[in-house]
Amino acid sequence: MQGCGFHIARSNKLPLALLALICVSLFLWPWEKAPLMSSLLPSFEQFSILTPVTDVPTRTSSSADKKSSRDSIGSSSSKEMEHVPIFLANDSLASDSALKEANVEECNFAKGRWVADSTRPLYSGSACKQWLSPMWACRLMKRPDFSFEGFRWQPQGCKVPEFSRSSFLSRMHNKTIALIGDSLGRQQFQSLMCMVTGGELSPEVENIGIDYGLVKAPGALRPDGWVYRFPSTNTTILFYWSASLCELEPLNTSGPSTHYALHLDRPVTFLKQHLPRFDVLVLNTGHHWNRDKFRGNQWELYAGGKPVVDGEELADLRNAKNFTLHSIARWVDLQIKRRPQLKAFLRTISPRHFVNGDWNTGGSCNNTVPLAGGSEVSQDGSSDPIPEAAVKGTRVKLLDITALSQLRDEGHVSKYTVKAILGVHDCLHWCLPGIPDAWNEILCAQL
Ligand SMILES: *[C@@H]1O[C@H](CO)[C@@H](O)[C@H](O)[C@H]1NC(C)=O
Ligand SMILES: *[C@@H]1O[C@H](CO)[C@@H](O)[C@H](O)[C@H]1NC(C)=O
Ligand SMILES: *[C@@H]1O[C@H](CO)[C@@H](O)[C@H](O)[C@H]1NC(C)=O
Ligand SMILES: *[C@@H]1O[C@H](CO)[C@@H](O)[C@H](O)[C@H]1NC(C)=O
Ligand SMILES: *[C@@H]1O[C@H](CO)[C@@H](O)[C@H](O)[C@H]1NC(C)=O
Ligand SMILES: *[C@@H]1O[C@H](CO)[C@@H](O)[C@H](O)[C@H]1NC(C)=O
Repeated sequence: MQGCGFHIARSNKLPLALLALICVSLFLWPWEKAPLMSSLLPSFEQFSILTPVTDVPTRTSSSADKKSSRDSIGSSSSKEMEHVPIFLANDSLASDSALKEANVEECNFAKGRWVADSTRPLYSGSACKQWLSPMWACRLMKRPDFSFEGFRWQPQGCKVPEFSRSSFLSRMHNKTIALIGDSLGRQQFQSLMCMVTGGELSPEVENIGIDYGLVKAPGALRPDGWVYRFPSTNTTILFYWSASLCELEPLNTSGPSTHYALHLDRPVTFLKQHLPRFDVLVLNTGHHWNRDKFRGNQWELYAGGKPVVDGEELADLRNAKNFTLHSIARWVDLQIKRRPQLKAFLRTISPRHFVNGDWNTGGSCNNTVPLAGGSEVSQDGSSDPIPEAAVKGTRVKLLDITALSQLRDEGHVSKYTVKAILGVHDCLHWCLPGIPDAWNEILCAQL
């Protein structure tokens, strides 16, 4: 994947890497057995979500992910909606006229530049405790520099109205905004909650997770998602955890450690079940499409209801991911055809900035100088061509945040992780407030 600043660890770093790995494993192993120790959860989750690229199998990533995939199965116990086939060759692509219409007000929000802005950030990272996970609230960590908070993304040649809580809520009157994806989607969700509340304590906002079957199962680390309703305008903002966006089906319902069929051509059950309730949908996937995640999650590739066998094109995870993104874009397109008021976005990948290694091999992202590598995106196309191609010819819009986020290597959690394990940096997730706020501004400008 381009733009991911990844370099193979030099061999002299390996002993440190292994040590770090062992430490992480030792720290995390007992947590799995004592899931109620909630104070430890943030780091547990954080490490589980960082994507190992090396071939070293890690207990941490596997155990946590297994848990999360099992949880997501458990919570979708309500009866599944009738399976909607994705590839209806006739029906799935938008007609030419619909396409023109969709492109009319198009501005390329991904092209532009970062500008210093004293009105940023839009909320306080110390105050927005109600919605920010401690593992992403850099103001509550030992990080001393916050210059990364003082910038706004200015798309070239488009008018982006200043984000306003009240105008956002009034435009979203009676509407439901759903974000579905991995931890980077969850970051965008938390950012949006802070933006809409201004980071102020908001006791009036109701937790209505139960309406969507999203409650923490006994012994689970967390619910599979969160749903909040703003009663003043009856606006709902929701996040559902689905790292692949695919339906997961346990292969052995009587076994406690079952493998899962990951159906590349079927959207995740939660989305199929609840889509009729959504007015805005933002999907993302990307960082989980690697062998380690698949092994750890016990995911097995399925297409057309049958296992993908070695040697088939789809056995290559790059092709599998591409196939899924195309499938889901076409499926959502079909839903928009039936219900044109639905606005749907496929978000491009959030770039990683590990230098001199990966998350578990001593990789770091130490730069603290904003925009050291430039402030402008001048290219017309996306730096993440797969989702860009997937939405082409559909009514799904691209929320293209890759290149603009690529310029912000100083905005990651970096070495100030909650548990601050020596040598383990987070150059994948962002500090909040921070870069995902700009993703939401671009999103809101299009609603
Ligand atoms: C297209 O739709 C028509 C009528 O709905 C159907 O008879 C035909 O088989 C479809 N073609 C394909 C390729 O699905
Ligand atoms: C809230 O909005 C939903 C539609 O999104 C509507 O069905 C419901 O009646 C509304 N509730 C109130 C109290 O206005
Ligand atoms: C919101 O929904 C309620 C209940 O359906 C309705 O009475 C009200 O007019 C709606 N408001 C807007 C702004 O759509
Ligand atoms: C399913 O799991 C059960 C319990 O672990 C095991 O006894 C059984 O052999 C498994 N079935 C298959 C088909 O793997
Ligand atoms: C991705 O999948 C689509 C549809 O299945 C296909 O047309 C396209 O060639 C694929 N792209 C890549 C880069 O594999
Ligand atoms: C980042 O800082 C760590 C120590 O905190 C150091 O080991 C590492 O070499 C630094 N990386 C870069 C790219 O400067």
